[in-house]
Amino acid sequence: MEQYDAIVLGAGGAGLMCAATAGQRGLRVLVIEHNDAAGRKILISGGGRCNFTNIGAAPANYLSANPHFAKSALGRYTPVDFIALVEAYGIAWHEKTLGQLFCDGSARQIVDMLLEECAKGAVAIALGSAVRDVDHANGQFTVRSDTGTASAPALVIATGGPSIPKLGATGFAYDLARKFGLKVVEPRPALVPLTLPGSDALFRDLSGVSTEVVARVGQAAFREAALFTHRGLSGPAILQISSYWRHGEPVAIDLLPGAAPGWLAAAKRDRPKASLAAVLSAQLPARLAEALTERIAIDGAIGGATDKALGEAERRLAGWAFQPNGTEGFAKAEVTVGGISTDGLSSRTMEARRVPGLYAIGEAVDVTGWLGGYNFQWAWSSGWAAGQAL
Ligand code: FDA
Repeated sequence: MEQYDAIVLGAGGAGLMCAATAGQRGLRVLVIEHNDAAGRKILISGGGRCNFTNIGAAPANYLSANPHFAKSALGRYTPVDFIALVEAYGIAWHEKTLGQLFCDGSARQIVDMLLEECAKGAVAIALGSAVRDVDHANGQFTVRSDTGTASAPALVIATGGPSIPKLGATGFAYDLARKFGLKVVEPRPALVPLTLPGSDALFRDLSGVSTEVVARVGQAAFREAALFTHRGLSGPAILQISSYWRHGEPVAIDLLPGAAPGWLAAAKRDRPKASLAAVLSAQLPARLAEALTERIAIDGAIGGATDKALGEAERRLAGWAFQPNGTEGFAKAEVTVGGISTDGLSSRTMEARRVPGLYAIGEAVDVTGWLGGYNFQWAWSSGWAAGQAL
């Protein structure tokens, strides 16, 4: 049996950052990963360019049963710290939009950087090695995996959540957490397209049409693009809102964000002979304008409609209610909302309060970021925090 100071389960962003940090502090660290390569999600992220952080990342950009939990780690290892690391490796980057930073070249550069950081800390990485069993006795964690048995006084759960199983994602973190008495907040697919029932078939026919909207669920609102798909709704605004959505809730979409109240009555005065579809298509894709006009049922020229009917149409357009019947599930979800409850973890070190030596980091934990680089920042910050504390 091999003896280490710490064993990290999972060679994703969080696990690699944690292992590199601890290794460079002089600890003997083993990472165990069941895929045959490290960082598979990093490699496909951001369309192959990895949206590796968001310069505005702050606790308010994360969902968790405890909205304060992420503060400590995010405050101690910030986007500026990660950018400094990226720049130290000469990796060129750019801001795409809304503070989202991407590699100019390829996501591979981020994985190579993390592996190089691990090498600097003499971290051992066992690839193609699924974890079979974990025991805890006499202050030692003993991990049996496909490549052997190893033991250490510290164990880090960094196996992520179940989003996109075909990339190697599993719910293993939750099984292990429960085994050690930690609670798990119900995991749900997040940053995922929403599906619409047959009654909204009119909109499904718009597959491929995209427009800027404000999408709302409860108090959460995002102004970004929405995309109609053959199954329902997608695009950044919808992915963002999906993290807040629960079965049975409506999603309200402002199809003309920023339109001044009374704009349709004004259009009636300016273009009385125009149809509603023609007026709408000045600001929306023509196919969408036609589908909305069919639903609103203002026939003929808008000059013939009352101001009351136009006001009502404006209100509908500003808060079009969709009733999704589900999501596209973990197979398509970029992340998981929920996970290992923060109740049992230290927000400073990520260590389990009742099981000294056991840590949980990254997506495995009930901290989920918005779309736009926030999830990797949580992986870096929580991984660094644990790596400092091991
Ligand atoms: P992650 O899932 O990355 O790593 C866990 C590792 O554990 C995996 O390598 C897995 O194979 C391994 N594992 C699981 N079970 C195991 C077992 N039993 N034994 C051994 N190993 C096991 N975020 C962002 O900020 N910017 C972006 O651009 C994107 N883009 C993006 C695109 C796509 C398609 C997806 C699916 C996701 C994103 N994300 C993202 C989200 C981001 O990828 C995610 O939040 C992080 O990868 C989470 O890092 P972790 O290290 O916590 O888990």
